[in-house]
Amino acid sequence: MPLLRFPSTSPAGRLVLQHGPPRYVRTPLVVAQRGLATAKPPSSLFAPLDTFPDRHIGPDNAEAAYMLSKLGYDSMDAFVDQAVPPKVRVASNAITDEEIKPLSEDELLHRAKDLGRANKPFKSYIGMGYHNAVVPPVILRNVMENPAWYTQYTPYQAEIAQGRLESLVNFQTMIMSLTAMDIANSSLLDEATAAAEGMVMAFASTAQKKKTFFVDDGVLPQTLAVLRTRAKGFGIRLVIGDASSALSDEALRSDLCGVLLQYPDVNGQISDFAELAKSVHSAGALVVVATDLLALTMLKPPGEWGADIVLGNSARFGVPAGYGGPHGAFFAVTEKLKRKMPGRLIGRSRDVTGKPAYRLALQTREQHIRREKATSNICTSQALLANMAAMYAVYHGPNGLKRIATKVHGLTQLLKTIVEGYDFKVTNGQFFDTLTLDVTGAVPSADALHASAVASGVNLRIVDDKHVGVTLDESVGPVDFLRLANVFSSAVKAPAVTLDNAPVSHLLPGVSEGLTRTSDFLHHPVFNRHHSETEMLRYIHHLQSKDLSLVHSMTPLGSCTMKLNSTSSMIPLTWPEFGSVHPFAPADQVKGYAEIIAELESDLNKITGFYACSLQPNSGAAGEYAGLSVIRAYHESRGEQHRDVCLIPLSAHGTNPASAVMAGLKVVPVKSLQDGSLDLADLKEKAEKHKDRLASFMITYPSTFGVFEDGISDACKIIHDNGGQVYMDGANLNAQISLTNPAICGADVCHMNLHKTFAIPHGGGGPGMGPICVAEHLAPFLPTHPVVATGGEKGIDAVAAAPWGSASILLISWAYIKMLGGQGLADSSKIALLSANYMAHRLSGHYSLRYNNANGRVAHELLIDFAEFDKSAGLKVTDFAKRLQDYGFHPPTVSWPISTCMLIEPTESESLEEVDRFCDAMIKIREEADEIIAGKQPRDNNVLKNAPHPMSVIALSEEEWKRPYSRQKAAYPAPWLHEKKFWPTVSRVDDAYGDLNLICDCPSVEETAHDYA
Ligand SMILES: Cc1ncc(COP(=O)(O)O)c(C=O)c1O
Repeated sequence: MPLLRFPSTSPAGRLVLQHGPPRYVRTPLVVAQRGLATAKPPSSLFAPLDTFPDRHIGPDNAEAAYMLSKLGYDSMDAFVDQAVPPKVRVASNAITDEEIKPLSEDELLHRAKDLGRANKPFKSYIGMGYHNAVVPPVILRNVMENPAWYTQYTPYQAEIAQGRLESLVNFQTMIMSLTAMDIANSSLLDEATAAAEGMVMAFASTAQKKKTFFVDDGVLPQTLAVLRTRAKGFGIRLVIGDASSALSDEALRSDLCGVLLQYPDVNGQISDFAELAKSVHSAGALVVVATDLLALTMLKPPGEWGADIVLGNSARFGVPAGYGGPHGAFFAVTEKLKRKMPGRLIGRSRDVTGKPAYRLALQTREQHIRREKATSNICTSQALLANMAAMYAVYHGPNGLKRIATKVHGLTQLLKTIVEGYDFKVTNGQFFDTLTLDVTGAVPSADALHASAVASGVNLRIVDDKHVGVTLDESVGPVDFLRLANVFSSAVKAPAVTLDNAPVSHLLPGVSEGLTRTSDFLHHPVFNRHHSETEMLRYIHHLQSKDLSLVHSMTPLGSCTMKLNSTSSMIPLTWPEFGSVHPFAPADQVKGYAEIIAELESDLNKITGFYACSLQPNSGAAGEYAGLSVIRAYHESRGEQHRDVCLIPLSAHGTNPASAVMAGLKVVPVKSLQDGSLDLADLKEKAEKHKDRLASFMITYPSTFGVFEDGISDACKIIHDNGGQVYMDGANLNAQISLTNPAICGADVCHMNLHKTFAIPHGGGGPGMGPICVAEHLAPFLPTHPVVATGGEKGIDAVAAAPWGSASILLISWAYIKMLGGQGLADSSKIALLSANYMAHRLSGHYSLRYNNANGRVAHELLIDFAEFDKSAGLKVTDFAKRLQDYGFHPPTVSWPISTCMLIEPTESESLEEVDRFCDAMIKIREEADEIIAGKQPRDNNVLKNAPHPMSVIALSEEEWKRPYSRQKAAYPAPWLHEKKFWPTVSRVDDAYGDLNLICDCPSVEETAHDYA
């Protein structure tokens, strides 16, 4: 029986399963052995001491040297030489401090401040789907700025994620209630991509037989651009026009799959679409509505007048504009469409004791897991921002929201009355917060008005030379309002508007009675009891306390790179200089952002070895889709539009084939060999077979099996020889930096998950960013944007709503790179490799390592196989994962890429002590499994099968505790738990029950009353 092994050759008698600081020998020799630059003594008396690499990288020099020695190496270089194939290595100093000069934490914050000042603090009334939100301070500090909310992973482990699952259910309930729809998901990436998902659902609902999707001309331009991109891959025909007249055309109706309407539209107009909706339904098509949550507190909700799909941006519920995001898009559908809905859905289920519990519903049917059968690739979405929006609704409640909406509408009414007095003509008959003004009766041109607005520090919407647009929001106070109103008064040389002379008494409502909301909303108790700050603070902390995150312990999720999200890199994010910038603000007002964007693009190009970068895609999967669409455009430009085959290894992440299908490609799978490496012979055979139609090959490197394969360059050559392009999935880029890079490997394009390698926190399931870097020949095809110039001269249409995606979080990756500098980046990758290999070494003899390279090395993560335990103990990989929760750890990635495996990734940020603690836990669990194998514990009633053990189970009476092990063993199986115990709040959640009884909103008033009885 494998026992916990205490290393006998330890340099300083290692501490295993004992609490307290490790004692390792620290000598100059050891520093040299580590081969890292991070512990250099300061170069002068004035050199900063707050250097970031020392804080970011977990193991110190002595610890790293110890890990190397356990693996049998006397230098880091010797180790790296055996982990990374020599064929693809870059010179060891490829990215140096000279190329990316490191800034100390303090220097970084000063630099960020200076760049923030370069963004001019104009007040934007541009609208077009973006508003100045007011973030309630209690939410700003306790959610947005709180690592216990932002460092969590997607809630795949429901028992240690009940807090954010509840909050996401609040989000879903809020959306269902405000839109009056049957079911809502827990966020999508942005409004434009949500509209694209709606279009594809409509297309799919006709079994892809009807190919025309009609877009009303009141839809936002960025939405239209994203629809254009997405329609192409699916072969959908987009028709744009006035929905109120065009839909009578019989030829159009016979091929119609759906219609997209904007309510209120880009010009602020609110139309009664009820008759239109009937007409669309009578053509057998779906009604898709893009809308605004605050407006819906006053307007008849789309679910009451015939919508099938309702979507939009929830950011005006307390999420900063942030130069375009991140923002949580919402998406709601009718009952009959619920099982086809893209994105994550949180459902109510129960645990094995019958206690109610939340979980990700229909998890195995998440669209991207359907691989080439998927019609959506959504994986990372916008959980943190959805949580903020939900908290905003919890804080304000229905009455608070009505007050806010009434104020915004009231100020818009007042502005209308004022400007009409100056002969500006409001062109939208009905309105909520947006007016479109014909300026010709009052001033010579729209330009003149914009010029005087800019002179007052105000941005209006540019429409054309005769019209301007104005959108008001919750942030508009009296001073702002007067400044805005006086842009108009001064343009016509009228006396200034003051608070005393403003015509507030005779305001006319902007919404007709027929379109006014009469139904209640947000009547669930959660939206009606946390309105004082004290209550709100306690609610936020109550939910937070149910969730395990990086503030507790390591989250060793393979392929997810859960590393430090440093405080210094997060601080600038919530400064107003970055938070309150509209994505369509004029270029001369956003010079700070422009500089950050340019520097980040340049650094990412250096790191990947590529030529150009697009920061538009706002998730890894969105990057895949963008990259493949760029490849398609490249082939098309060469008259090779028929190239439509994409080769993808069977081990690839589900988003790869899903993205390929969305880009209009046909997926052909490629096999792996017994040792886990790519089957080059199979690749060659398939590439040659499809030579005339080969568009691309997608590969993850190091592979999803956690190994740097020797054959990567050969694979790329095979593809190029057969006319294809190579897409590298950069999810594992953390293992590559400065050791190799996608360009050297031979790829043409790669996406980077900034929320993995470049330290953007995962936010409990988003936000993320998935920029792509490309070789020179693909640069002309990078995505453009309809409002702000971006991308290449022959660029594809937009892939996201905002020009630079979720721009504000780019600051985090920018800061991360700048603070680490070239050497720190390289050192991070080396330590990531070292930690994974050290872990593989510690776990060997206890578990079966599935794959390694010819030198016995893994890359930055390791795949452990649990298949053997099924027969010997009746245990599955999930039982081990759930038991880890009792030890206070978030389980690694489970059942992917192989169903019986765990993929473990420690990252460079975890100290040796933490890595050891995790290994100790794994080894202890192996001992527990051995007891079952030896027949000392029953196969169906043991600590693993019954894991996790929440406090409610430990507190069962002696009679109810029918388990052949002690409570002590269940809850405190390791010594450190006596001081540091994280309690799962429910027992193992019943997945099947949740999927069979799909309930995705908050408990009703009656149920809640019952709970409290
Ligand atoms: C290998 C791989 N590719 C692609 C993705 C998709 O990235 P995202 O979740 O940012 O869309 C993931 C996400 O975990 C991944 O692990």
